[in-house]
Amino acid sequence: MILCKMQPGHIEGVKKLLDACFGESAWSVESITSQLDKTDSYCAVAVDEEKVVGYIAFEAIVDEGSIVELAVDPEHRRQGVGRKLVELMLTSCSGVKTICLEVRASNHGAIALYQAFDFQPITIRKNYYDDPREDAVIMIKKVSNENTCH
Ligand SMILES: CC(C)(COP(=O)(O)OP(=O)(O)OC[C@H]1O[C@@H](n2cnc3c(N)ncnc32)[C@H](O)[C@@H]1OP(=O)(O)O)[C@@H](O)C(=O)NCCC(=O)NCCS
Repeated sequence: MILCKMQPGHIEGVKKLLDACFGESAWSVESITSQLDKTDSYCAVAVDEEKVVGYIAFEAIVDEGSIVELAVDPEHRRQGVGRKLVELMLTSCSGVKTICLEVRASNHGAIALYQAFDFQPITIRKNYYDDPREDAVIMIKKVSNENTCH
């Protein structure tokens, strides 16, 4: 398995991955493409035998970053792929003072993963998600490096 910065050739694989992870609420090809093209966005993938099995999308506005998507193929979970993607994002994208994210309150696995990287829950956004309706936990991590996103 390799982890690398996402390229346009990965878009189709990322779409299949997000469909497998999020079903009807998965991002469209247009959303995936637009995320890849955004200034100050960093997208990375994990690829196993030419299949995209992991995806992370990060973006920053000035010194505030956010993880906007993270997904690992169901058959590749609990093998450290999510952890490696977060590590790669943290080393590749800095220049930010804080990184925040939203996660479903019931998503204990993702919350545990983020807590392992010192993301702290700071507040709850009531009824933030639909299908099913659920609160979001807002998590934030303070970072100390001052490089720029590349
Ligand atoms: C959340 C997700 C990205 C985790 O990916 P992963 O590759 O399975 O995670 P890792 O194997 O790197 O796990 C790292 C650590 O996170 C925690 N963790 C991950 N999944 C967990 C789970 N289901 N239950 C409890 N802890 C979990 C554990 O501490 C784990 O370490 P360990 O395996 O040594 O115990 C994956 O489950 C996923 O894609 N879920 C669906 C999409 C999603 O929820 N995305 C996040 C949106 S905010």
